Amino acid sequence: MPIQTAITTAARAADGAALLAVPFAADLTVSPVPGVPDLPLPPEGLFAQHKAKGEAGEIVEVPVARDGEVARILLYGVGDGSAKALRKAGAAVVRRAKGRESVSVALPPEGPVAAFVEGALLGAYTFRIGENRSEPVAAVEFVAADPAAVADQIRDGELIAGSVALARDLANTPASVKTPAWLAEKAVEHAEAQGVAVRVRGPEELREGGFGGILAVGQGSASPPRLIELSYEPDDPDGRHVVLVGKGITFDSGGLSLKPTDNMKGQKTDMAGGAVVIAVLSALRRAGVRARVTGLVAAAENMPSGTAQRPGDVITHYGGRTVEVLNTDAEGRLVLADALAYADAVLAPDVVVDIATLTGAISVALGRGHAGLYATDDDLARALLDAGASSGDIMWRMPLIDDYRPALDSGVADLANVESGSTYGAGSVTAALFLREFTGGRPWAHLDIAGTGRSTVDEGPLSKGATGFGVRALLRWLAPDAG
Ligand code: BES
Ligand code: MN
Ligand code: ZN
Repeated sequence: MPIQTAITTAARAADGAALLAVPFAADLTVSPVPGVPDLPLPPEGLFAQHKAKGEAGEIVEVPVARDGEVARILLYGVGDGSAKALRKAGAAVVRRAKGRESVSVALPPEGPVAAFVEGALLGAYTFRIGENRSEPVAAVEFVAADPAAVADQIRDGELIAGSVALARDLANTPASVKTPAWLAEKAVEHAEAQGVAVRVRGPEELREGGFGGILAVGQGSASPPRLIELSYEPDDPDGRHVVLVGKGITFDSGGLSLKPTDNMKGQKTDMAGGAVVIAVLSALRRAGVRARVTGLVAAAENMPSGTAQRPGDVITHYGGRTVEVLNTDAEGRLVLADALAYADAVLAPDVVVDIATLTGAISVALGRGHAGLYATDDDLARALLDAGASSGDIMWRMPLIDDYRPALDSGVADLANVESGSTYGAGSVTAALFLREFTGGRPWAHLDIAGTGRSTVDEGPLSKGATGFGVRALLRWLAPDAG
C-alpha cells in the first residue's frame, strides 16, 4: 500500500514523532537544508568513526539537542548520485524511519530526484493481512529549496512506485481471494479509473472465440478462467500499437502434474506478469505515453481435479494450432499461446511483449536479480535492455536456439508443450521457442520473470514477496521521458 507523501520547504527537525534526513556527499560534506538554518554540522571525525564513505545506503544517525529533547538527524549517503544510487539511498532512509509517523527528507541536492523518491516509497512498501509485521513509516515529507522545481520529478517517482505497489499488492494477495474473476474486477477498477477500457471474456465467450489453451488450463478449477483485455488510446497518438501480454495464473498447483509442496507454496504469484500488465496499463495516461497499448491478461487457476486436463490431452489454441499437453505444469505457455495468437490475428500490433513467471529454469540460469529476455528483433531487445538497466529492472538477453526447436515436435499434434525426453534441456529457451510459434512473425519479446518476480529478502527497494518486476522497465520503455 503506498504511503502518504508531501513536498515542503519548511523542514521540521526531529522531535520524537518526526525525523529529519539530510544527504551527505561522497566528499563527506553536508548540504544546507532549506528551512533549517541552524542545522548542526556533524562533529569532526563522525563519519570516520562510523566508517562512512558517502556510499548510497549508508546512514549515520546524529543525536541533536532540540527544544530540551534529544532529536535525531539521519545523514544519508548518495554515492555517485546515479539513479541506482539514489534509489538505494531513498530506500535506506525510509527503512531507518520504520514504525515512525513521519520522516522529513531533504532531497539530494542534484541528480535524478525521481529515482530517490521511487526508492523511498518502495522501501516503505509492505503487504499485510493483520498486524503481524512491523509498520513502515506512515508518511514522508520531501524537503526542497524550490518545491516547484522538483514537483514533476516527485510526481514521476510517485507514479512509478505506486504502479509497482499495485502490481505487488495483486501478486501478494492469497489465491483463496484472487480468483480469475477477482483479478478481472481489479483490472476494471484500476484501469477504468485511469481512462483505459476493459473487456473481460468469461468461459462462454472463450469457448465461442476458440481460446482452447486458457480453457484447458482453467478447466480443473472451481473458479473459471478469464481473458482480460485492456485498451489504452493515447490523447496524442504517435501511430504505434504495442501489445503487452501477461501470464495470469492465479495459482499454479501444477495441475495433475502436481508440484511438490515446496515448489507450490509461492505459486499465488504466478500471475505476476499479468499484475504488471494491469499496473502498466493503469499508469499510461498519467505517464503521457503516446503509443496505443493493448494489454492482455490470460487468467486461469491451474488445479488438479476430476475435470482437469490430463497429460496426453490435445488442445486447440486460438487460431487452430493443436498442442499435445505432455505436462500440465507447463501451463503458462498454454494460456499465453492463445493471447499471442489473438494479438497477432486480431490486434495486428507493431510489437508484442509478453511477461511471465514461466520457468524455474530461468532462475537456475540467471538467479533472482536478472530477468531473461528473449526477442526476435534486435532493436526491440536493445530498447528493453536499456529501459531495464536505467529503471532498475535488469534483464539479460537469452538466445532463441533454433536447433532446439525439435524438442517441441509431437507425434499427434502440431506441437508438444514440453520436451518429452531430455535431449535438449534448456527449459527456459524451449518455453520461449514454444511461445514464438504463436507470434505470427511479428517483432516480439518475452520476459521470463520466474526468478525476479519474487524476493526472499527485505532489501533496498525490494520487499519480501512479489516485486512488481517489469513495471518500471515497461513504463520506461513506453515513456522514456518519465521517471
Ligand atoms: N509457474 C511455474 C514457473 C515458476 C517456478 C515460477 C518457480 C516461479 C517460481 C511454471 O508454470 C512451471 O511450472 N514451469 C515448469 C515447466 C516445466 C514443467 C517444463 C518448471 O519450471 O518446472
Ligand atoms: Mn506450472
Ligand atoms: Zn506457472
